[in-house]
Amino acid sequence: MSGKKATLTIGDKSLDLPVHSGTMGPDVIDVKDVLSNGYFTYDPGFMATSACESKITFIDGDKGILLHGGYPIEQLAEKSDYLETCYLLLNGELPNAAQKEDFVSRVMNHTMVHEQLQFFYRGFRRDAHPMAVMCGVVGALSAFYHDNLDINDPEHRRIAAIRLIAKMPTMAAMSYKYSAGQPFMYPRNDLGYAENFLHMMFATPCADYKVNPIVARAMDRIFVLHADHEQNASTSTVRLTGSTGANPYACIAAGIAALWGPSHGGANEAVLKMLDEIGDVSKLDDFIKRVKDKNDSTKLMGFGHRVYKNFDPRAKVMKQTCDEVLTALGIHDPQLELAMKLEEIALNDEYFVSRKLYPNVDFYSGIILKAIGIPTSMFTVIFALGRTPGWIAHWLEMHSAPYKISRPRQLYTGPVQRDFVPMDKR
Ligand code: CMC
Repeated sequence: MSGKKATLTIGDKSLDLPVHSGTMGPDVIDVKDVLSNGYFTYDPGFMATSACESKITFIDGDKGILLHGGYPIEQLAEKSDYLETCYLLLNGELPNAAQKEDFVSRVMNHTMVHEQLQFFYRGFRRDAHPMAVMCGVVGALSAFYHDNLDINDPEHRRIAAIRLIAKMPTMAAMSYKYSAGQPFMYPRNDLGYAENFLHMMFATPCADYKVNPIVARAMDRIFVLHADHEQNASTSTVRLTGSTGANPYACIAAGIAALWGPSHGGANEAVLKMLDEIGDVSKLDDFIKRVKDKNDSTKLMGFGHRVYKNFDPRAKVMKQTCDEVLTALGIHDPQLELAMKLEEIALNDEYFVSRKLYPNVDFYSGIILKAIGIPTSMFTVIFALGRTPGWIAHWLEMHSAPYKISRPRQLYTGPVQRDFVPMDKR
């Protein structure tokens, strides 16, 4: 508590509301007392609502700052790796050498999924979208780990966290293999996390896949850049679902469903589709006209963010990684040029400047993923894989202290009470 108070005046009544200060960021007005005074607060889309207290991630959207456990994302992307970042999100501190070794070995020892899970995949049409498959199979894990899982036991929660981080790459690669009609590849625990994922994606029983270290490093960095983003739509979904006491695997499946939408994680797939649709630089002006037309629903995908109103620090690292990967692999991708030209036009156009619309993390990620050989339909699955430690860290944080079921209220504008009208009188 900051000792400050906010005064809310409603008619001739005054309410003193406590103001809380975090370690960083704006102060927060505690509005709980408005309820006992006969009011609800109203904030559709949660534009200004803090739904919880959290120590995991801090974002300053105006300054383009993203910190995990206080560490800037740029430093984590350059100097850390994904499993270390996972440890940081779950534990609040970077691991020492022994802690890291133990964590990595625990994760790598849980990479296999129950053999029976294969049958869930086989129940889907072969052309099912991999995100649809992921919603199903991750939710299905709850059937494998339900009766013996006590969410009130911290050790059980930790095991669920490790299992999810460990099994997501296996399940993600299986969803690709199923759609490609290729046999599932078992995980290889002698490989690094990103390397193992690439192996399960691209190796076959008849041909080994030599993982290019540049590609593995880029994949790992993509995972780091997606690892957490505080109370975004999918993480809030995981917290809301978790607040009912639901099984953690079911909570993560709910997060995956929320992530899929094109306004959220589905944007990475939508960016590539948009670049395909534009085709070449000569069509850019027409496309920008459509984006700015109020009667046209076209959006510049990969642009804009609810929180970042200056730049998305993840996008900066992603663009740099994109350059590095394409140069190292000797790939000349005309879509990268198209994306850069699109960015240049948008950054100088009054429409985007006045609305503070800048490239977000999804703008360049698709171009790297394409260069690595990941099919477009898998882009959002990669986001889900990367975001899993964030979801689970928030689920763990919520369960490590007393919490209430999330239950928003509403401003009701429907009919007032009336009597039922029989069919012959309607
Ligand atoms: N293209 C064109 N206009 C846009 C865009 C866009 N991408 N984004 C926002 N606007 C306009 C919007 O029409 C509105 O204009 P006006 O004031 O004239 O009505 C204004 O900018 C404010 O937009 P908003 O919809 O109120 O902003 P929001 O904070 O509710 O939405 C957003 C944020 C990310 C949903 C939105 O910017 C968007 O749909 N972007 C494209 C999808 C995308 O790239 N999503 C990935 C987000 S980053 C990955 C993640 O963390 O999920």
